[in-house]
Amino acid sequence: MKAIGVFDSGVGGLTVVKELMRQLPNEDIIYFGDTARVPYGTKSKETIIRFSLENILFLLRQEVKLIVVACNTSSSIALTTLKRHFKIPIMGVISAGVKEAVYATKNKRVGVIATSATINSLAYTNEIKRIDSSISVFALACPLFVPLVEEGWLKQKIAFDIVLKYLKPLEEARVDTLILGCTHYPLLKSLIKKAMGRDVRLIDSAKLVAAEVKQVILEEGLSKAKSNGKPYYNFWVSDEPNKFKELAKRFLGYSLKNVRKIQSV
Ligand code: DGL
Repeated sequence: MKAIGVFDSGVGGLTVVKELMRQLPNEDIIYFGDTARVPYGTKSKETIIRFSLENILFLLRQEVKLIVVACNTSSSIALTTLKRHFKIPIMGVISAGVKEAVYATKNKRVGVIATSATINSLAYTNEIKRIDSSISVFALACPLFVPLVEEGWLKQKIAFDIVLKYLKPLEEARVDTLILGCTHYPLLKSLIKKAMGRDVRLIDSAKLVAAEVKQVILEEGLSKAKSNGKPYYNFWVSDEPNKFKELAKRFLGYSLKNVRKIQSV
């Protein structure tokens, strides 16, 4: 059986890969990080859709059986188009986090933080409202969070001050649940927790997305036969692999060796 394909605008999607490896330890994974064109979160809808279509075509050439769009920005903006264009199962990362948040909130005040493109798309707000229209949604772009994580500023005072400043309106809005709607934000969890207070529930969708993938694989009869040996993990990027390797350590907790640069998307 073929591998699970995963793509992200860069390295952040490894938060999802880590969970896929944990929950589906037998499955092969092929990852593509579009490091030459990251960030997606500041780009236009047309560009994000075009990049996402090209990323899917690359993964299809690797003969994957299912594709996970690990990037929140692509999932928010391109998922409907991608599903229309391809027959293969394609899964995004928005609905899993939303379901969990709708279930978790007690005061029906939910916050969402993400890139500007994701927030402007209203994907999270619309999905929450579709499930429960009585929930008030407070959605906020935090454009400095991605560069903070990529710089490795995860604990410093300056990072905390930035987090605090961004999240102030959400704290004032008294949300009791906060969706981390971007691949990078789980790495800032401890600062976000400190800024929002311990009673606010943080929703990190990676675990839930992996659980959804597991369910689809079982339902569609796509599981890899156990007898087919140890799983393989292939990592592809569109820019030189060194920066990716360095950052990957932060996301996965260990270094990656087999990262290759593609010739063209
Ligand atoms: N992967 C993106 C996301 O989850 C964050 C980085 C970017 O802006 O491309 O929205």
